[in-house]
Amino acid sequence: LRVSSGLIEPDGGKLVELLVKDSERDLKKGEAFSIPRIKLSRIDLEWVHVLSEGWASPLNGFMKESEFLQTLHFNSIKLNDGSVVNMSLPIVLAIDDSQKHRIGDSKKVALFDSLGNPVAILNNVEIYKHPKEERIARTWGTTAPGLPYVEEAITKAGNWLIGGDLEVIEPIKYHDGLDHFRLSPAELRDEFTKRNADAVFAFQLRNPVHNGHALLMTDTRKRLLDMGYKNPVLLLHPLGGYTKADDVPLDWRMKQHEKVLEDGVLDPETTVVSIFPSPMHYAGPTEVQWHAKARINAGANFYIVGRDPAGMSHPVEKRDLYDADHGKKVLSMAPGLERLNILPFKVAAYDKTQGKMAFFDPSRPQDFVFISGTKMRTLARNKESPPDGFMCPGGWKVLVDYYDSLVVS
Ligand code: ADX
Repeated sequence: LRVSSGLIEPDGGKLVELLVKDSERDLKKGEAFSIPRIKLSRIDLEWVHVLSEGWASPLNGFMKESEFLQTLHFNSIKLNDGSVVNMSLPIVLAIDDSQKHRIGDSKKVALFDSLGNPVAILNNVEIYKHPKEERIARTWGTTAPGLPYVEEAITKAGNWLIGGDLEVIEPIKYHDGLDHFRLSPAELRDEFTKRNADAVFAFQLRNPVHNGHALLMTDTRKRLLDMGYKNPVLLLHPLGGYTKADDVPLDWRMKQHEKVLEDGVLDPETTVVSIFPSPMHYAGPTEVQWHAKARINAGANFYIVGRDPAGMSHPVEKRDLYDADHGKKVLSMAPGLERLNILPFKVAAYDKTQGKMAFFDPSRPQDFVFISGTKMRTLARNKESPPDGFMCPGGWKVLVDYYDSLVVS
């Protein structure tokens, strides 16, 4: 039993951990070879990882139909005691007709990775229809063609979903040199306790850290100290699962984040850098709830949210897919997130009069330059420099090197 550390309680009261005991590992492995099999895609495996460590607590496996429907229709799940936890994204496993046929009446299936290794056993399985259009429309608010996660993981997926209770045979590892950054919620909780944190504030990101992001984080720390906290700790928590093709890959982002700490933009003493294993949906206000909820389970009681979280450009029209303010508004009202302190931030932009990133002042719009992700990528690709004070030089150099690496000589 874990000793209560004073950190925020996980959703459902207890952190779900779905790894089998060392002593049962061989037995379960053997069992996996004797029951019907499902081969997992890369994204499926990322969800197994997420579930196995309790990021989605109290969920103990891929969603059954009742959880799936509550997620789609209420963005939350009701527990047996009547309380409600937030759950805004379906965490589901799709199978096709032939797989369904092969499973037949079996109550158990084995999940195998692409190399043929047994990863997990799914127990008490329930197979139900995969209403793709409805899932897409309700999760993204649109069925416009070109949504990255949809094209990658839903359109070509099977017409059935299989839910069940998960038993994971071995911890999920990627062997990419970054596994030591992939702390589980339990490990993060231990780390915060070790550091004597009296507040933990989480920053979700999928982009390189620019000084606008840093402003949100340093401002939060100041606010928490003003509120009387003595030792607030920042969880700098880049998303490590699936991202769309034009986002900067995880390994380059990790190098960039390292430079941001080295260059003193953020203080290593009060920052924990770790990787959040979830794949990215780009579902804006719906997804940001998942991003926040998962961090409660990792021990964060404050959550920073700024402009257009989990957003992207509309895949067909020339505009952002979501209203840039809806994410923070929705998060502040979301069912099941009442225990989490949401810290909403105005948009940060480059203030020409100060030569640095600052909160946008609508009374003098002419003084500000917005440097979008697209603009940043274009500058780095062309080896042009952004305005001084946009990003620390070490961090910028990593981006230039990344785009350089893409050029085929
Ligand atoms: S996200 O998909 O992880 O949300 P990103 O890495 O771009 O994308 O953003 C991380 C966090 O920083 C989100 O809370 C987002 O709202 C916030 N953010 C990004 N850019 C700005 C900005 N210019 N001003 C204010 N907040 C921002």
